[in-house]
Amino acid sequence: MNDHVLLPTGLPGPASPRASDPERRTWLIATGAMGGAAAVATAVPFVSTFAPSERAKALGAAVEVDLADIPPGGLKTVEWRGKPVWVMRRTPEMIASLKGQEAELADPLSKKDELPDALRNPGRSEREDVFVAIGICTHLGCSPTAVPAGSGNPSVGADWSGGFFCPCHGSTFDLAGRVFRNKPAPTNLEIPPHRFLSETRIVIGDAAAP
Ligand code: FES
Repeated sequence: MNDHVLLPTGLPGPASPRASDPERRTWLIATGAMGGAAAVATAVPFVSTFAPSERAKALGAAVEVDLADIPPGGLKTVEWRGKPVWVMRRTPEMIASLKGQEAELADPLSKKDELPDALRNPGRSEREDVFVAIGICTHLGCSPTAVPAGSGNPSVGADWSGGFFCPCHGSTFDLAGRVFRNKPAPTNLEIPPHRFLSETRIVIGDAAAP
């Protein structure tokens, strides 16, 4: 199994930022440098681990994920059916950020989403502190990047309270994967079927019994 520690900016997107946007390019370079140092020193929040398992390589196989090694605010990426699936442990501050910005979201109540009732809540999750989503933008399939609150990233604005940014065409999502208004992505991030096996283990690809 190959484990890769990625930068705190999250998953790499397939497309580079526009060369005509020097401010954003400078920011990304600076963040990458800082992130590299942080990733080596400590398992800081938003450090991602891409850890495809042998089981995940089998078409349709469910994938078990251990939550114990994800720090508060951190995000682990696993592979399921060839797709990156994020498992994030949200902090109380992250959970609080999900309320109060509904007017800025395209579909805050997940009306367009096919979700089980247990996930029809602001966090789009069974447990508030554990968020699971497929890390693929619903516009044209790029990989969004996790951007923490207070990142200083000019692409998301000064009042950003944390979430995900797609570098391909600028879609932004909150920490429940809900897309902001007037962005190219037509829907919220998809949530794969999953269920809790215990306090610290979940299985992706196997939904809870109704
Ligand atoms: S693919 Fe994400 S905004 Fe276009």
